Amino acid sequence: MKDILTAPFMVEMIRTATNMYGHGWDERNGGNISLLLDEAELKEYLDMRPVRVLETGFAAPELAGKCFLVTGTGKYFKNVQYAPDVNLGIVRLTDGGTKAELLWGFSDGGKFTSEFPAHMMSHIARLKADPANRVVMHCHPANLLAMTYVHDLDEKAFTRTLWQMCTECIVVFPDGVNVLPWMLCGTNEIGEATAKKMETTRLVVWAQHGIYGAGRDLDETFGLIETAEKAAEIYLKIAHLPLKQTITDEQMHLLEQRFGVKAREGYLS
Ligand code: 13P
Ligand code: ZN
Repeated sequence: MKDILTAPFMVEMIRTATNMYGHGWDERNGGNISLLLDEAELKEYLDMRPVRVLETGFAAPELAGKCFLVTGTGKYFKNVQYAPDVNLGIVRLTDGGTKAELLWGFSDGGKFTSEFPAHMMSHIARLKADPANRVVMHCHPANLLAMTYVHDLDEKAFTRTLWQMCTECIVVFPDGVNVLPWMLCGTNEIGEATAKKMETTRLVVWAQHGIYGAGRDLDETFGLIETAEKAAEIYLKIAHLPLKQTITDEQMHLLEQRFGVKAREGYLS
């Protein structure tokens, strides 16, 4: 059996959590990540015998039998690199997704993030849209969060503003961002609402809270959030100043052609 702390998915998860903390996106226990694992690969590191069984509090038959590396509830991203076995866990969903067998980690008796419903339901939605999706990531980046206090939460308006703030935004997230109004976090309700929004885009803003991103690997998902957050930062730098020019829809169409992407239907004139 190989040492799980040397597994590429574990090394990448630790690096990503550390990097997210370094970016200031995950104060205290803020944020959570889940990564869908390949069972055959996992078997090289674990005997797959459950250590404990946890209740999920929801059904997710689409994910039954699937294994995830996930951050723990109440755990600090800052500490992941120093004690991965305490702050992270590997679970396998069983019983139609109503139970999660803990295969490794959460060694202080902890459990998966309180946002597990939003993560698992978002995985279901994104896997339908893209069978190669592996990651759901949530964090609290300051500029995107600030923007939800002063900008219209209409998804088209919010997306168009972000696209206009950096030339490459439309290339990185041509599907735009969807936005949820403030809702109580850590519930199945916000999980279901997030997953519904994930059907049409990989970025979902939670007003006055943070953002969810989804992608094929940790790097790509990190980069997606990083790009949107950079755009929000530019917005906050200029929002109070008289606007002299912006990226026009005509220029956006040039970007679509040059980079082979298609902007969300009806979002450009
Ligand atoms: P957890 O510590 O349960 O992961 O919660 C953090 C968070 O960001 C809630 O939205
Ligand atoms: Zn949060």
